[in-house]
Amino acid sequence: MSETPQKRLYIKTYGCQMNVYDSERMADVLRPLGYGIVDEPEGADLVVLNTCHIREKATEKVYSELGYIKQMKTRKAQAGGTMTIAVAGCVAQAEGKEIMHRQPAVDLVVGPQAYHQLPELIARAHRATGERLSADFAADEKFDALPAERQVNGVTAFLTVQEGCDKFCTFCVVPYTRGGEWSRPPEQIEDEAKRLADQGVREVTLLGQNVNAYDGGGYTLARLVRRLARIPGLDRIRYTTSHPRDMGDDLIAAHAELPELMPYLHLPVQAGSDKILKAMNRDHTAESYVRLIEKIRAGRPDIAMSGDFIVGFPGERDGDFEKTLELVREVGFASAFSFKYSRRPGTPASAMPGQVDEAVKAERLDRLNALLDEQQKAFNALQVGKVMPVLFEKKGRNPGQIVGRSPYLQAVHAVGSEDLLGQIVPVRIESSAKMSLGGVLDSHAIPEPA
Ligand code: 5AD
Ligand code: SF4
Repeated sequence: MSETPQKRLYIKTYGCQMNVYDSERMADVLRPLGYGIVDEPEGADLVVLNTCHIREKATEKVYSELGYIKQMKTRKAQAGGTMTIAVAGCVAQAEGKEIMHRQPAVDLVVGPQAYHQLPELIARAHRATGERLSADFAADEKFDALPAERQVNGVTAFLTVQEGCDKFCTFCVVPYTRGGEWSRPPEQIEDEAKRLADQGVREVTLLGQNVNAYDGGGYTLARLVRRLARIPGLDRIRYTTSHPRDMGDDLIAAHAELPELMPYLHLPVQAGSDKILKAMNRDHTAESYVRLIEKIRAGRPDIAMSGDFIVGFPGERDGDFEKTLELVREVGFASAFSFKYSRRPGTPASAMPGQVDEAVKAERLDRLNALLDEQQKAFNALQVGKVMPVLFEKKGRNPGQIVGRSPYLQAVHAVGSEDLLGQIVPVRIESSAKMSLGGVLDSHAIPEPA
């Protein structure tokens, strides 16, 4: 595509799906400059670490990776070459200047709203002049500046529709790293979705830190989903991550009515004790969450629920934690993510009394995970004997095997021709494990309405 000789670009992505989307877009921004993606950092011309700041562990990983990358940069310099190191994402936003101090090998730092400026920042870093830090909040500028063309690999794609968060949960850094809530205009999203469909994408996951708070000038998320569902070829729509308090009636209705909207909902609850939910500033109770799920299930009884949980939030006693287990038993989750509370500097919870001992957090996490694992296995086992529409995405590890996703986001393995990649095919499920299902193609069966 470009006349420029191919330069090697290595991008490592940490954290959430929005970072996965952003990394793809960074590659899109850099492609016209002659950068092509490589799988290994050794010898690369440009290394980008797209970072996550959500928990301490995620942040520390970045610094240790930078240590390795620095050695590669030194090796390349000794061989007469150059390597540019860029730190992008939420650590860049939150700790910009500090990164440069802690690891002087870093050439530039670019926040999540400024990566469209990467070409310019790289040029500046090469001239070793000017500002090396770019980390302001201006999401609209970014989307206007991104190239319309996206390189897609595969039949599923992420599409960012909303960024930022105004909820200020007391444990969370997102409002500080990603800024306030901001939604892309529906026309721009539709345009990107149509291009994706033209490139063979069948399933799109709409991304936002608070995606169900989407507000595109009179467009709610439900209305946006209905508009996108009309795009020919786009058969499956998902969205993540949502907040219980933004789960509007029109979105609940869309789950009941729209076959394109997949029956899977990631709706973090974080904890089951009202005392803890209040201290977290979640603005919902355990009871209101459970009632909400009942309402969603009234219209879409088979919906697979997913959630996020935090154990060991400051002030969490044994009795509070038991309430989290109770809530999990009452709701029943098909999948979930659970974390030990991590104290993030600058967030209100980090200064709260009653910080919980690490050993207690670890023990609670084990107990919660045991219950969630059990529920996930049970949910998967329920599918055995059913015929499900599976969107096949790629070849499997074993010869002749192909892998796809069920409507409930389970990985499904089957023996089948590679010609089926990109197609939605009925599969009779024969086996289940914690992370996946196995089945046989059922060409005579009629796919269930998704
Ligand atoms: N400690 C532990 N988990 C956290 N999360 C966000 N902030 C923290 C923190 N300080 C979790 C929440 C959120 C998910 C993306 O990460 O469960 O939903
Ligand atoms: Fe963080 Fe809460 Fe916003 Fe989610 S809703 S991004 S947990 S502040």
